[in-house]
Amino acid sequence: MCGIVGYLGPLKAAPVLLSELKCLEYRGYDSAGVAVIEDGRLCVMKAAGKLSNLEEILVQKGPTARVGIGHTRWATHGVPNDTNAHPHIDSTGKIAVVHNGIIENFEELKTELIGLGYAFNSDTDSEVIAHLISYELSQGGEMLDVILRSLKRLVGAYALGIVSQEHPDRIYAVNHHYSLSVGLGQGESFLASDSMAVRQYTNRVVRLEQSEVAEITTQGVRLFNFDGLEVKRSPIAMDSSPYVIDKCGHKHFLLKEIHEQPLVLRQTLTKYLRHPNHPIDFSVGAYDPSLDDGSSENKMVGDGTAYGVHLTDEEIKGLNHINIFACGTAYHASMIGKLLIEELVGIPVAVDIASEIRGRKLLVNESTLAIACSQSGETADTLAALKEAKARGAYTMGITNRADSHLAQITPNLIVTECGIEVSVAATKTYLAQLASYYLLAIYLGEKRGTLPPEKAKALKMQLNAIPTMLEQILAREEQYKDISIKYADAHDVVFIGRGVNFPTALEGALKLKELSYIHASGYAAGELKHGPIAVLDQNVPVITVLVPGAVYEKTLSNAQEARARKAKMIVVAVDGDEQAARTFDSVLSIPPVEEILSPLTTIVPLQLLSYFISDYLGKDVDQPRNLAKSVTVE
Ligand code: AGP
Repeated sequence: MCGIVGYLGPLKAAPVLLSELKCLEYRGYDSAGVAVIEDGRLCVMKAAGKLSNLEEILVQKGPTARVGIGHTRWATHGVPNDTNAHPHIDSTGKIAVVHNGIIENFEELKTELIGLGYAFNSDTDSEVIAHLISYELSQGGEMLDVILRSLKRLVGAYALGIVSQEHPDRIYAVNHHYSLSVGLGQGESFLASDSMAVRQYTNRVVRLEQSEVAEITTQGVRLFNFDGLEVKRSPIAMDSSPYVIDKCGHKHFLLKEIHEQPLVLRQTLTKYLRHPNHPIDFSVGAYDPSLDDGSSENKMVGDGTAYGVHLTDEEIKGLNHINIFACGTAYHASMIGKLLIEELVGIPVAVDIASEIRGRKLLVNESTLAIACSQSGETADTLAALKEAKARGAYTMGITNRADSHLAQITPNLIVTECGIEVSVAATKTYLAQLASYYLLAIYLGEKRGTLPPEKAKALKMQLNAIPTMLEQILAREEQYKDISIKYADAHDVVFIGRGVNFPTALEGALKLKELSYIHASGYAAGELKHGPIAVLDQNVPVITVLVPGAVYEKTLSNAQEARARKAKMIVVAVDGDEQAARTFDSVLSIPPVEEILSPLTTIVPLQLLSYFISDYLGKDVDQPRNLAKSVTVE
């Protein structure tokens, strides 16, 4: 949420900042801005709306400055307009600040600074930082000391980029519970919230750890802790392949990413499941180039950092509880993870919406495995929950698509999904990869603890290996799904129902439709419909049922009949040859027959496509839906 960039070196700063910001627009697209030091004067340019609005201004003004910072915003305090856009400047107009995070005590500081004569322009919490630095500067001292003194007054989590007209030869950056990376080139340096944004220029990166200040010059970077003590850290070499943004012929990134799912699943399975006769191997370390299919968008963004699961067999056998933390789509994947682990391993699993952990008694201990599942590895709520569990003595594990994320820094056990970058804000392929990780993890734990007989493990692995081909068959039916989807595009409310492993599929289907089309949609456990939600049904409300042969088939069908009796429009995701479904429902989104336990890997795909087609038909912003950000770094 919010992206910070910076540049100083021989190139014109504005185009470099813009290209870095393009890589970070997924973090928010409410407004964008840059501050450069042009002919010895601080010059700020900013615009509400997408980055393209800022780009127009930069092209018109054509600044030639060689140093600057930039920002892309997801609004927390203050509406998305030009005034609230970052950078924010102090009253002297000499200091500019870009900020990611929330300053919790900003009201108190603002009142104090107004009392001292400082005039505020915006409704943001961030502006207070510029004035605070200005005030501390007026009290004397070197810029680094001034910044360190200012930080002592700030409460909250934040990442900052700071430039001062008086020091055109440097940028200051601060990281307090976020991610920030400094890229080191030849006589030039870069700053970015996400190292991916600097990778187009250099693969030598220094990551700021928690509570650190960086003094960045063209010659490199010096790091200090919040007590002002210098910290030495060598740069790491990242995978140097460029970050390519390409729709590969698809109309939208979302559609491309939905279509990448067979490949993503194959890559994830190939990585950890070498052969059905072999146990799952999570000890896999760094990115394995031999598994790459050669297309740059499928390359790992990792830096070669070792990851994998490093729990000993004894530790795994000693676990008596698992607690998973996640948000949004990752939470839905984790709900399925819970069912799989409980079914195959027999350990009780709690799955929590990570933001609900705050202020609650977290019941974890030294025999708990706490798992954070997060595509970005940057979700503040999810990270906070994992840190809390760690502080209470739990073993920790992460499931993420970003081997270079904050999550990767805080746990020694990391499963990295093999998705490549997901550009579209709505998660699709990363959901599938998270599901795949949970299947593998459940089998892995079942094998280690001896709860999963080898024959059953082998059968599951073979069935898992067959899923990518099924996904290809499903994707080949997209025209059929499109025709059905458009029929329901005028709905104002849509209800999704499912049972067992497909209850979370119903939740995820509803989330995708809301995010992409802005149509109100809710997912329910099919058996819960009659306990209240059925009251909203009439002939105008489509009900989408996820119905797969297995233990809950008949009961799900009965629940769907209850909806049909209220004249709801009936749509179903059902397997080929299901005559009963064909008779009961108005429209069938058909999929190839699949084992119930594995069905969430396939049932979600027609629902992703349904949301996509409705969104596109309604002319919505498919890849960047309103009000959203891909990486949610505030609590
Ligand atoms: C998915 O479509 C969403 N945009 C959102 O729910 C997302 O899954 C959630 O914010 C969690 O993100 P994470 O996986 O990066 O932690």
